[in-house]
Amino acid sequence: MTKIEKPFLQSLRGDVTSQAPIWLMRQAGRYLPEYRELRSKAGSFLNLCYNPEMAAEVTLQPLRRFDLDAAILFSDILVLPQALGQELTFVEGEGPRLGVLDADALDTMDFEDKLQNIYETVRRVKSELPEDKALIGFAGAPWTVACYMIDGRGGTGFPKTIQFAQENPGEFHYLMDILTTATAAYLVSQIKAGADAVQIFDSWAGLCPPAQFEEYISGTMRYVMDSVEAACEDTPIIAFPRGIGARIGEYVDVVTPAGIGIDENNSFDAVPRHVCVQGNLSPQLLKQGGADMERAVDKILNETKDRPFIFNLGHGIDKETSPEHVAALVHQVKGFQR
Ligand code: CP3
Repeated sequence: MTKIEKPFLQSLRGDVTSQAPIWLMRQAGRYLPEYRELRSKAGSFLNLCYNPEMAAEVTLQPLRRFDLDAAILFSDILVLPQALGQELTFVEGEGPRLGVLDADALDTMDFEDKLQNIYETVRRVKSELPEDKALIGFAGAPWTVACYMIDGRGGTGFPKTIQFAQENPGEFHYLMDILTTATAAYLVSQIKAGADAVQIFDSWAGLCPPAQFEEYISGTMRYVMDSVEAACEDTPIIAFPRGIGARIGEYVDVVTPAGIGIDENNSFDAVPRHVCVQGNLSPQLLKQGGADMERAVDKILNETKDRPFIFNLGHGIDKETSPEHVAALVHQVKGFQR
């Protein structure tokens, strides 16, 4: 029997596939009624993350509805600081809250014990996934995770982190080293449990002071990549450094990921053509739907038709998005011959 290919992985290996593979950041979540139902059964977001049976179901929900090419593990970037020992809660409607950080008290030895249920979710999803669909594991990049660990919450632009990184470079470096090692170990374990590829979310890379970009964004990512590649050389890695604008070309040169996520304010042109680009429809346009969305999708498909490409959003899906708009998007992308 011939082996069935996964188009998502073919794109990451540099093929120009006849149809563009598609998945959406935050594709499992509150815009889906079936998610809201399971989430309320679980009682809390974190209960859902740590329950392999429910987390696997939520991971697969968007693929049961839409012809997506990849599932992304249902979890969160903040389970890693929690496993390292920092307190984490999710306040209904407000997002994450982390306890005061004591970097010396972080448990860098046994933190993976607390992530076993997440690896079990990966194994379960993998065993249920059709052969032509890929499973994506993920983690936050050290900078973005450090932002939440130091500021303790999002939504404020992370002023404490930015100040701390500038005024206490030695201590900030110490935290980044811990996160670099832990993030790589966490990703390697997801790959060993069955993830076909991993994405590293540096959602707040654009907030790093320019003078520290090489150190905390591209340089740190290079270290994470080196460690993951040393253990799992054939597994493609997608980097998503959101908001870095014109530094994207330099970033790709240093980090050399198989795939690069492009946010809606950046352009595919800034990346060398052999590198697989992923993106970059505005989540607002998906929410709006209709002719404006259709035009924007068509433009993205035409711009990328001669290069390795994965269709995605420029950032996570908005929770007010209608599932019908997602269905229309997937239909349009799958109908475009490259
Ligand atoms: O479908 C998927 O993409 C997989 C699951 C996933 C979640 N979070 C589930 C989630 C992934 C890949 C993430 C990544 C994540 N988490 C990032 C990076 C990507 C990005 O959006 O920038 C960040 C910064 C976080 C931290 C986080 N988690 C925040 C700031 C919030 C609150 C904001 C919000 O949307 O509520 C979360 C909560 C969260 N993570 C939810 C989901 C489905 C909503 C929680 C709920 O159901 O109540």
